[in-house]
Amino acid sequence: MKNIVLIGIMGCGKTTVAERLGEELKRPVLDTDALIEKDFGPIPKLFEQGEDYFREVESQIISRVSALEGVIISTGGGAVLREENVKALKKNGIIIFIDRPVDFIVKDIDCSGRPLLKNGPEALRSLAEKRYPIYKACCDYHVVSDNDLSHTIQRIVEILR
Ligand code: S3P
Repeated sequence: MKNIVLIGIMGCGKTTVAERLGEELKRPVLDTDALIEKDFGPIPKLFEQGEDYFREVESQIISRVSALEGVIISTGGGAVLREENVKALKKNGIIIFIDRPVDFIVKDIDCSGRPLLKNGPEALRSLAEKRYPIYKACCDYHVVSDNDLSHTIQRIVEILR
């Protein structure tokens, strides 16, 4: 059975959607950021050694989870920046882009623990602009999430049916 891989910008709801999908579809849920922190320590500490170092660690974790089957994988917002990660995730996964308007996200995102937002949520705007084409290009399904997250979950369940 293929994995279900959620991608999208920070704060778009990947973690929440993954957890609720896991309950609905009775599948295990893995969160790459949580796995990184479990094995390597807090993300802000990893960024202190440079973003490249963080990306190396992230690639290791992605390679590991991509080898699994039938799981739901919630990725960090930058997980698809490296082609090797996209390839690994795609090999046995259906990639779903959760496209939440940045205006929705900046209102309530928690910036703590997110080094790329250390100067506040407005940094998300340029990040989203740069990454949007990547998310679009590598996803199998593009789900616009401009309502309550339960709509997003329902939409994904329909797609997977
Ligand atoms: C990042 C997103 C974060 C985390 C790290 C870098 C990014 O994950 O992986 O802070 O580059 O967009 P979330 O999308 O889960 O916040």
